[in-house]
Amino acid sequence: MIYPIVMYGDPVLRKRAKDIEKGKDIKELAADMFETMHEAHGIGLAAPQIGKGIRLFIVDGTTLEDEPNLKDFKKVFVNPEMVDEFGEPWAFEEGCLSIPNIREEVERPEKIKIKYFDENWNAHEEEFDGMKARIIQHEYDHIEGKLFIDYLTPLKKQMLKGKLGKISKGDVDTEYRILAPLKK
Ligand code: NI
Repeated sequence: MIYPIVMYGDPVLRKRAKDIEKGKDIKELAADMFETMHEAHGIGLAAPQIGKGIRLFIVDGTTLEDEPNLKDFKKVFVNPEMVDEFGEPWAFEEGCLSIPNIREEVERPEKIKIKYFDENWNAHEEEFDGMKARIIQHEYDHIEGKLFIDYLTPLKKQMLKGKLGKISKGDVDTEYRILAPLKK
């Protein structure tokens, strides 16, 4: 099942998402999220982006041909907990399916350590770096109610205000189905 993707301005994107009850079957939901994300050509998707305020996100970098070290990087993160972020901060131009057609440079630490469960409720504690860390950091922010534009300077944010207002109203071009909070 393909969900519409929630646009910027919806309060679900601004709430800290809630833990999922341990052992709950989330396989179908995760499969639906992969389908939704692939349809939109994304590499990460968090549950709030389909309107669900729960601590679940998925990543899939296996389709990126110019990123060979992501070729096995397809994962489900359930009730994740960021343990540490470390290393040199580096800048990369990020985008987000909930904020279409805007890309801006964001600086993040190069490495992370994260605890999470997979879709079978097996516990993991792992370190990631580079693009893998970057994708996880962006998705983890989503379940904390944070968006990549929060890292921009006040001036940059001011410059994006008009575009963001249009996105909230659904006045934006996408190749995927969207759910805009202020659409009349
Ligand atoms: Ni995003």
